[in-house]
Amino acid sequence: MVRKNACIFISGAGSNLKNLIRKTRDYNFPINIRLIICNYKKAKGINYAKKNSIPYLIVNSKTRNFDNFIISVLKRYKIDLICLAGYMKILSKNFIRNFNKRILNIHPSLLPKFKGLNTYSRILNNNEKKTGCTVHFVNEKLDSGNTIVQKFFFILPEDNEKSLKVRTQLLEYQAYPEAIIKIFRNN
Ligand code: GRF
Repeated sequence: MVRKNACIFISGAGSNLKNLIRKTRDYNFPINIRLIICNYKKAKGINYAKKNSIPYLIVNSKTRNFDNFIISVLKRYKIDLICLAGYMKILSKNFIRNFNKRILNIHPSLLPKFKGLNTYSRILNNNEKKTGCTVHFVNEKLDSGNTIVQKFFFILPEDNEKSLKVRTQLLEYQAYPEAIIKIFRNN
């Protein structure tokens, strides 16, 4: 099996990044992480790039020609797959078209429910019985591309935003690797 080259985009803690790095140590995991892109220079997640000697790039999304610059870097690294993992910027249409069907995202809800931000508080306020996470392809509409893997759990009366986040992320650490394996299964 020839592994695909992946780039992970982050903005924050990077716990999904950490988990994906760990998964790349499995002999049959279909990707290698060749590059990490982060749009926030104080993001804790960058430490995982440093610790694991993975090239990383801190970008300022406000600069002119931002898109074309990133696209050229991704092409230079021969990136086949982009995994958004807590990346807090919306990608431009031009960017998405350039990597059509090769960008994945993980979202902390059972999409199509609760697209967008502040998901945990909205889920609790809506008295949902269950919640979970979704790994999906990225298209030009926010949190709307086809679902690849979805996992759920039942919300307990004592759950709060913090516990929902912990419980959701535990599922995310299973869902993201599963989704990556699934999309490359027939290649
Ligand atoms: C994840 O929970 C994901 O659902 C959301 O952002 C969070 C990122 O967390 N898109 P981390 O940076 O991977 O710890």
